[in-house]
Amino acid sequence: MTHEPRIIVALDVSSREQALDLARTLRPATDWVKIGLELFTSCGPGIVQEIKELGYNVFLDLKLMDIPNTVKKSVNNCMRMGGDMLTLHLLGGEKMITAALEARAGRDFKAHSSPVLLGVTLLTSLERPDLPWPESRSLHEVVMDLASRAKRWGLDGVVCSGGEAAGIKENAPENFCLVTPGIRSGETTQDQKRTVTPSMAVSSGATHLVIGRPVTASRDPLGSLMHIRRELSANF
Ligand code: C5P
Repeated sequence: MTHEPRIIVALDVSSREQALDLARTLRPATDWVKIGLELFTSCGPGIVQEIKELGYNVFLDLKLMDIPNTVKKSVNNCMRMGGDMLTLHLLGGEKMITAALEARAGRDFKAHSSPVLLGVTLLTSLERPDLPWPESRSLHEVVMDLASRAKRWGLDGVVCSGGEAAGIKENAPENFCLVTPGIRSGETTQDQKRTVTPSMAVSSGATHLVIGRPVTASRDPLGSLMHIRRELSANF
């Protein structure tokens, strides 16, 4: 076994009932789910507590990016909601990331968590033509540059594609989290572009796999998740 990856299921649905149904169904196979913009903007902060009451750790993936003061206050609010893992866009810059780290360091009695803080490098739905920088800068270079800033600024990890995890792992502090969405086992990639299989992601050093539609859009979500777990146990 290289290491035991955590599987985080992205609850990308728009209704509270659907989210709670899925969460109850999947609980035997994972204790991490991700609440992203779709569910959060549909149900509001209350959904975080409801999901946590089912025994889950919550990755609150709001991909914060704003001026440092606004991000600091928002990280405070996410801690009050009990988010166990949060995301910040690395393109927000060092001052914004420092403000987020300060918010965590100064958490008060109203905080229900001390979350893992992750930097988002480049979304796995992006390809080189989507980037605004000169062609001479490869997408890989941009991701590596952003990831090395995340390490320097003191974040706990980054969100990247499975194809980038191995490069980022080099020179990363011990316990640096490599959280990889864009996981596909051969089915349609939908809007994702930089995809890898679960096993490829783990071989490259991913510590957490974020899996959405391959599980949540399946006719048998628990069966699909167990299938991925079996594939990983067979390979590692
Ligand atoms: O359904 P799918 O497996 O593509 O879901 C991937 C999830 O990971 C989505 O919730 C998406 O918001 C998230 N994500 C991503 N790429 C990133 C960061 C997060 O796809 N760079």
